Amino acid sequence: MNDVIVDLKEISKIYQMGPVEIRAVDNIGLQIKKGSFCSIAGASGAGKSTLLHLIGCLDSPTSGEVKINGHNLGEMKDADLTKFRKENVGFVFQFFNLIPTLTAMENVLVPAMFDKDQKVKRAEELLEKVGMGHRMEHHPNELSGGERQRVAIARALINDPPIILADEPTGNLDSETGSEIIELFKALNTQGKTIILVTHEKDIANFANRVIIIKDGRLQDG
Ligand SMILES: Nc1ncnc2c1ncn2[C@@H]1O[C@H](COP(=O)(O)OP(=O)(O)OP(=O)(O)O)[C@@H](O)[C@H]1O
Ligand SMILES: [Mg+2]
Repeated sequence: MNDVIVDLKEISKIYQMGPVEIRAVDNIGLQIKKGSFCSIAGASGAGKSTLLHLIGCLDSPTSGEVKINGHNLGEMKDADLTKFRKENVGFVFQFFNLIPTLTAMENVLVPAMFDKDQKVKRAEELLEKVGMGHRMEHHPNELSGGERQRVAIARALINDPPIILADEPTGNLDSETGSEIIELFKALNTQGKTIILVTHEKDIANFANRVIIIKDGRLQDG
């Protein structure tokens, strides 16, 4: 089925803390369709970030199979995985994770840093697109929270990945600014990006066409 972009087969992530075993993700099977907008909801500690990191190849499962865009990640060498992640996944975080000493423009270029042709033109276009054309030379501490998140979204898009993963992207914003950021994700989704967004806020989760709920590392719905 090539309309499935994320295909998880019985994945678990177990952390061994001395004698205690923590099943952060406990035997989850999940398929997400290309071009969909999904939210992952659940209480603190439920395993949302762990699941997102597994989908985004930032972490590997203790067991099970992760297939992204038709590729089985478990069969890839580290170097291939890094390249694959860069081309396929863009990340947006709760605390923006911008580099403080770089301007908005330079931050957007970070994921393209090792490319032969630096994508300055594209970075400019993306900053315009997220409404930050007038702030390209500002450093993160010269931007509001919402503006920082817009820069982070432009950064996630620099390599034009088909999948955008966002972990509590509105968690640090007031509700109005949060809604604007969600609108931006919706627009990207309309343009074809698959969006997977982690949140514990019900209102935000309901923006998505599919809400996946996890509890104690297990899928509740989907
Ligand atoms: N590196 C780690 N080592 C050990 N335990 C971990 C590690 N990372 C996460 N955990 C544990 O795994 C469980 C799931 O954590 P996770 O960060 O995925 O939760 P979450 O749903 O994202 O929570 P929150 O909403 O608070 O961000 C928690 O019990 C957490 O303590
Ligand atoms: Mg989390």
